[in-house]
Amino acid sequence: MCGIVGYTGFQDAYEVVINGLRRLEYRGYDSAGIVLDGDSSTFDVAKTKGKVDDLVAISKNLSGKAHVGMGHTRWATHGVPSDSNSHPHLSNNGKIALVHNGIIENYDTIKTMLSEKGFSFQSETDTEVLVNLIEYVMDVNKDFDFPTAVRYALNEVYGAYAITVMHDDFPGLLVVARLGSPLAIGLGTNEYFIASDASPFVEFTKEAVYLEEGHMATISLESGVDIRNIKDNVKITAEVQQLKLSLEQIEKGGYEHFMLKEIFEQPKSIHDTLRGRLLVEEGIIKMAGIWDNLERLNQAQKITIIACGTSWHAGLIGEYLIEEFARIPVEVEYASEFRYRNPIISEKDIVIAISQSGETADTMAAIKMAKEKGAFVYGICNVVDSSISRVTDAGSYTHAGPEIGVASTKAFTAQLTVLSLIALKLGKHNGKLSNQEFMRLITELESLPKKVQEVLESTNEKVKEIAKNFVEAQNFLYLGRGYNFPAALEGALKLKEISYIHAEGYPAAEMKHGPIALIDENMPIVIIAPKQGHYDKIVSNVQEIKARKGQVIALVNKGDTQVSSVADYVIEFPETSECFSPIIASIPLQLLSYYIAVYRGANVDQPRNLAKSVTVE
Ligand code: F6R
Repeated sequence: MCGIVGYTGFQDAYEVVINGLRRLEYRGYDSAGIVLDGDSSTFDVAKTKGKVDDLVAISKNLSGKAHVGMGHTRWATHGVPSDSNSHPHLSNNGKIALVHNGIIENYDTIKTMLSEKGFSFQSETDTEVLVNLIEYVMDVNKDFDFPTAVRYALNEVYGAYAITVMHDDFPGLLVVARLGSPLAIGLGTNEYFIASDASPFVEFTKEAVYLEEGHMATISLESGVDIRNIKDNVKITAEVQQLKLSLEQIEKGGYEHFMLKEIFEQPKSIHDTLRGRLLVEEGIIKMAGIWDNLERLNQAQKITIIACGTSWHAGLIGEYLIEEFARIPVEVEYASEFRYRNPIISEKDIVIAISQSGETADTMAAIKMAKEKGAFVYGICNVVDSSISRVTDAGSYTHAGPEIGVASTKAFTAQLTVLSLIALKLGKHNGKLSNQEFMRLITELESLPKKVQEVLESTNEKVKEIAKNFVEAQNFLYLGRGYNFPAALEGALKLKEISYIHAEGYPAAEMKHGPIALIDENMPIVIIAPKQGHYDKIVSNVQEIKARKGQVIALVNKGDTQVSSVADYVIEFPETSECFSPIIASIPLQLLSYYIAVYRGANVDQPRNLAKSVTVE
């Protein structure tokens, strides 16, 4: 939520910042802005409501003007998307500029105090309060240099932030800090980069420092990077990371949208997630995080899975998997609910936190609470070195690669892959799963990338055709049973977030307890009906829908006859054990929502009001 880019070096800062903002636009696209410290006596600033393209349209004249600058792409929290609420924000004397990702929670109290001291405000944002607080600290402490003033101000605020600050009297110096929102510093040769993630500078350097919680850094060409603890100014020696990210991974590679590229990457992302872990010939699953904590996990009184959105849907499937194969009781909770109630969690409990970004604020807070209650927390994250992967006691990464489309696709199927591995490994070691069954399931798991490739090839064109019929639809129902009930929830979420069509997912059997009242000839119903998984019951559900003239889009296994003979549209996918069928069934569901959204002219990669990593509560 909100993307920050900063630069000092020998290149044109305008170009570096604008290109960086384009890469970070997935984090928010309500407004964009840039500030440069060039030869003119004051900062050069341009900012506007809208996207980076809108910013470029009003700021091209700034190109070539400076070698130091920073920019911001915003997901609005305090104050509507508008020019005045856009970042960067300048302090009253115009000398300090600040960009911010996060929320300053006590901004109101500070704003009142500053107003009483004569400060005025041009925006409704919490960020403008922070930049003026820094000016105020410098006003009253004449002996403070700029970084010291930033540090003092930060010790007065609470909330979450990643910030970059510049001062006109300290040319070439960038001050950055982080608490709760991510910030990476790219270490180039005679140049430094700052960004919310490494994507803006990946073509310039492979060396980066990820700022830790509660740390700040002053960065200049003369003095390099000096990292301190915000609280007590203690100097920190940072670990330099070698980036594995490549440019290819963060570009569209010929696809019209990142979402489509990521849908088509799934054979590879699932394969990468299995690689080195699934050793079928040796009959083992190798996962260090699980192996090192095997006893603890298998003796858990209960496992609670916490997550948000799509990751929560993966968690629901995780519950089915772990209960079926490892026979350990599992509960699945929205992180945002879990953290605000008083759940029964003890030292004997395991909490599994699932997050693609590894930054989701509610999931972070829920982990903190679970740890306070003594639980052992296991993380499943996609972004390496993300906050959640650092705070958890152990974990397994999904190796889906960078997911840039705001609607999660390949991260979801990679999460299901990791959860399958965990469930099977636990079951094998606690004896709840026979060796024969284990071998059958891991052999099947190994075949999933191939089956996903097959379903992509065989359904893409068909789904594209089917989607044309639903461009005007106002509502959709998604139904599934067993493992495919959460897949139905995920299908509905995908459709609503990118096409803005109202969609609901239900367990198919629940239809008769309410949603059936909605069914008429205008209601499209997507029903997931694989052979393995209560097929006969689903056949009855389809008949009930048809009797009420609903339009059925059925996802069935190859060779299906019963459901296919009554459904209006049929999408076939290869047969697999029920427990793995959501991985395969999700592919045509993702394609369906993608094509409907494209036909409706929606911005698929940047759906309205959404952002990729939700770092606010
Ligand atoms: C939906 C989507 C969101 C995220 C949710 C959690 O397509 O992407 O629902 O799944 O915001 O995000 P992570 O997994 O990063 O914690």
